[in-house]
Amino acid sequence: MNWDKPQIINLPKINDPRGNLTFIEEGSHIPFDIKRVYWIYDVPGGQIRGGHAFKDQKEIIVALSGSLDVTINTGNTKINFSLNRSYFGLYIPNGLWRHMENFSTNSVVLVISSTLYTEDDYIYSFRDFINWQKLI
Ligand code: TYD
Repeated sequence: MNWDKPQIINLPKINDPRGNLTFIEEGSHIPFDIKRVYWIYDVPGGQIRGGHAFKDQKEIIVALSGSLDVTINTGNTKINFSLNRSYFGLYIPNGLWRHMENFSTNSVVLVISSTLYTEDDYIYSFRDFINWQKLI
């Protein structure tokens, strides 16, 4: 795996007539120690979330239920990912601009993060993001 790039990870899926099961283990499926888990839900139709970059946070995004689209902007290229399976994990390295949209009704989106929450890690303006990239 090249962990420098955003990518979909096919997580393990235990098929079972009683209901399927998927899991993520630190050290085997993801390239960071898990510091925080949060989830996004009750998203009204048409809303866009996450228009920002993280300087340090690496993350895995999983549509536990429903679906959404994630657009990643590297500064000069946009990459789109559709998350529509509970066993897809989207890995996003730090230092990329990203937003989430097209949340389906009742979607539940899990984010597994490499960092604790700190406001200082956020870059909220795209112009600041481009300037920050030039400095690193
Ligand atoms: P934010 O990360 O901006 O949400 P999104 O990227 O989905 O648009 O977070 C929204 C608000 O929640 C913001 O005020 C910070 C707060 N927050 C925490 O307090 N702790 C957390 O772990 C997260 C992710 C957000």
